[in-house]
Amino acid sequence: MSLTQTQSISNQNKPYRPYGVARDLLYCREPEILMEGPAGTGKTRALLEKANLCAMKYPGMRALFVRKTRESSTESVLVTLEEKVLPTGWPMLSGPSRRQRQNYRYPNGSIFVIAGMDRASRIMSTEYDMIFVFEARELTEDDWESLLTRLRNGMMPYQQAIADTNPDAPTHWLNQRALRGQMTRLLSRHDDNPNVTNEYKKRLNHLTGVRRDRLYKGIWAGQEGAVYDLWDPAVHLVNHSDIPLEYRRIRSIDFGYTNPFVCQWWAIDSDDRMILYRELYLSHGLVEDHAQFIAKHSQGETYEATVCDHDAEGRATLERYGIETILAKKSLRSGIQSVTRRLKKEADGKPRLMLMQDCLIQTDHRLAEKQKPTSTCQEFPGYIWHRGTDVSEMPVMVNDHGMDAMRYAVVYLDGLTQNTLDVRVLGK
Ligand SMILES: Nc1ncnc2c1ncn2[C@@H]1O[C@H](COP(=O)(O)OP(=O)(O)OP(=O)(O)O)[C@@H](O)[C@H]1O
Ligand SMILES: [Mg+2]
Repeated sequence: MSLTQTQSISNQNKPYRPYGVARDLLYCREPEILMEGPAGTGKTRALLEKANLCAMKYPGMRALFVRKTRESSTESVLVTLEEKVLPTGWPMLSGPSRRQRQNYRYPNGSIFVIAGMDRASRIMSTEYDMIFVFEARELTEDDWESLLTRLRNGMMPYQQAIADTNPDAPTHWLNQRALRGQMTRLLSRHDDNPNVTNEYKKRLNHLTGVRRDRLYKGIWAGQEGAVYDLWDPAVHLVNHSDIPLEYRRIRSIDFGYTNPFVCQWWAIDSDDRMILYRELYLSHGLVEDHAQFIAKHSQGETYEATVCDHDAEGRATLERYGIETILAKKSLRSGIQSVTRRLKKEADGKPRLMLMQDCLIQTDHRLAEKQKPTSTCQEFPGYIWHRGTDVSEMPVMVNDHGMDAMRYAVVYLDGLTQNTLDVRVLGK
């Protein structure tokens, strides 16, 4: 049975039209998927619709539906499953009450097993083709990895585990796992759910602090008072694409040893949009090694400038490896204002500063183990304003190494634009 056929069967009973990433999810065959987003975007419904389609398409498939506790599914996932997804009038809907349910059996032999991690032994004694974890942030990474070992029923051409969740702290294992590339991240948004009302969005918008960030904006947010509160992965993180030869390129460098040494490679398109397309973010390395690494990864490219932190010895070492640098303007406040201006979306819906999803050359596991950011994009949520009267206008200066390098790049570019304009005006 093709996906289109199964869709129409499902549509005869309970219509469902997937939008945005809900549609992508139906076709995605990646082994581990993270379906994340703010409250009420249709994540759970999308998972359940996929489960239903696969159950009909692949007779005899086994799917596991898990939450942290079995009980928590009763009034959430199973209500949507029974009321919105499972075809009306099918025998599987009669039988035990939702609370007592252990499974839903399809006439073609497919089955949904309902369980909780509170009784993991029941889950672990058998095998599945698909595992759906709802509100996955409640589970531990150990839970997730032990679930993955159960994915080997072989009744489908692919085996898959899908987690749905609202964002949590940036250091949460789900976010980290996706950042390491072990899970495919699908960003679900309110526009993907035709059922979302303005009333509902307004309610979420009135939440405060970190809850608003997570449940309204869908950001992995740790603390209140983010310096770059415009930061939104759905807007500023873009997929990989090749950088055309004619784009301007610059590099920016922030030194560090215990803290990471950061080198960012930026490309600037003809609309003055800057894109971080490559990044070195590594602690405990010698400048000499970094210099060789940077030179190796820069082969075949030319740069307008390499903007650099103030460290004479470090700069001299870079120069020995052919990396000529210019001094960064370190003005913090005006730099932050310039970055903020670039993060704003323009009329075409795009900002002027973006980061490629997979630009990090390699993950620094030492930093990851300490739950520290391992890339510039991970620094955004934790880059917060200092609380207190005397330094109220300053950011807290921890985990800000990518933030610094990014600011140097922005100040270089925007300052340069300004200078060019000045020269032009003067020349008239
Ligand atoms: N494409 C769609 N068409 C019609 N209704 C939809 C669609 N997607 C979701 N819904 C409905 O919107 C409501 C919220 O969806 P759902 O529970 O899947 O959101 P969620 O993202 O899982 O929310 P939460 O973050 O709170 O868990 C449900 O009643 C669901 O049936
Ligand atoms: Mg949900």
